[in-house]
Parts: sequence; C-alpha cells; structure tokens
Amino acid sequence: MPHKFDPGHVDRLESPERYESMPPERTLRNLGLRRGMTFVDVGAGTGFFSLPAAQVVGSTGRVYALDVEPAMLSSLTSKAPPPWLETMQCKESSLPLPPGTGDMVFACFVLHETRDPLAFLRDMGRVAKPYAPVVILEWAKRRQKEGPPFGDRLHHHRVEELVLEAGLCFKSVEFFNASQYAVQAFKKR
Ligand SMILES: C[S@@+](CC[C@H](N)C(=O)[O-])C[C@H]1O[C@@H](n2cnc3c(N)ncnc32)[C@H](O)[C@@H]1O
Repeated sequence: MPHKFDPGHVDRLESPERYESMPPERTLRNLGLRRGMTFVDVGAGTGFFSLPAAQVVGSTGRVYALDVEPAMLSSLTSKAPPPWLETMQCKESSLPLPPGTGDMVFACFVLHETRDPLAFLRDMGRVAKPYAPVVILEWAKRRQKEGPPFGDRLHHHRVEELVLEAGLCFKSVEFFNASQYAVQAFKKR
C-alpha cells in the first residue's frame, strides 16, 4: 500500500526551495488557469496551489480544495482563504462534486499516494468539464533523499498509460527539474 503524506510534516510542502522550483501562481497560469474559472484541487493539502489559485480565478471563479485528510484541510482553513475557496473532505477516488464541475482538475503529488490510481483518475475526469485539462504533478521515478519512497513513485510513462486507460486524452509531459514533472491530459467530451 502506498504511503500517505504525514500531516506532521506540512512544513515540507511549503519550503522556500519548493516556492523557487515550482512557483505556484506562475505554474497555474502556465497551465492555463484564468480569472472566472473553477479549479478543482484534489489532495489540496495545506493549499500550496489552492490559495494562489483563488487569487488567479478571483471572486468570479471558484476553488474546490479536496483532501482525504481533515488535518490537512484544517491547516488550509487556518490561512483564512477567501469565500470563493471551499474546502471539502473527499473519499479515496470519490470526489463529492457533480460531473463537469471543473475548468481545470488538478492533483499535485497525490496520485502516487492513491490506493487505486486508475479509479482516482477516472473520478478526476468525471468532475472535469468537456475538454477541460486534467493535470497530474508527480515525483520522477528516481532515488533521492527528498520526496516519497522509490517504490511508491510513478514513472511518467506509467502516468501517461493510466490517463489513457482512464479515458482521457494525453497532451504532454514536462519536467520542472530532474525530480518533478507534470502530465497534462484533457477530457474528451
Ligand atoms: C504530498 S501532499 C501534497 C499536497 C498538495 N497537493 C501540495 O502540492 O502541496 C498529498 C496530499 O494528498 C492527500 N491525499 C492522499 N490520497 C488522496 C486521495 N485519494 N484523494 C484526495 N487526497 C488525497 C493527502 O492527505 C495529502 O494532503
């Protein structure tokens, strides 16, 4: 069974190195997030992406920050998010949102923690609007001190296969650095 992120280590999610290598607002804008959009952040954690996403989409947009772990959501709500950001507890591969909700459905460093990655991706696709991007950020399959254990990590080729199996269209894979990459897919219709 893959390891879940330990809520006792939230500081690791907000290190200065992380802000430098993966500046959240710029990353989201580069992925196409814009004012007025609905952003679905699955496994939102402390809000590293959800909070900047709320700034980008503004009051005419909406952010759903979902996580299986209530302690992570408490950490996010303690940062006083704006009213158009809603936190929600979700179940493993079961998001409490109607089909076709998100203009962008996003999961950073979550897929490798899921018990059933295929079911997880299918549900991400379900809550995306037709043609909306479904974005997966993950750790490269390499041995290093930081990040999840080697055995839990998913090679980007495996993520490509999984998004196709989940019925999504694969668009691209891009590396932020030697350790972290983004797979972009989109919902067909
Ligand atoms: C490594 S943290 C990343 C948090 C955040 N996405 C970020 O980039 O800072 C992984 C988060 O995913 C959550 N998580 C794990 N499995 C999940 C699942 N199946 N559905 C939703 N959240 C999940 C964990 O509770 C944790 O908050």
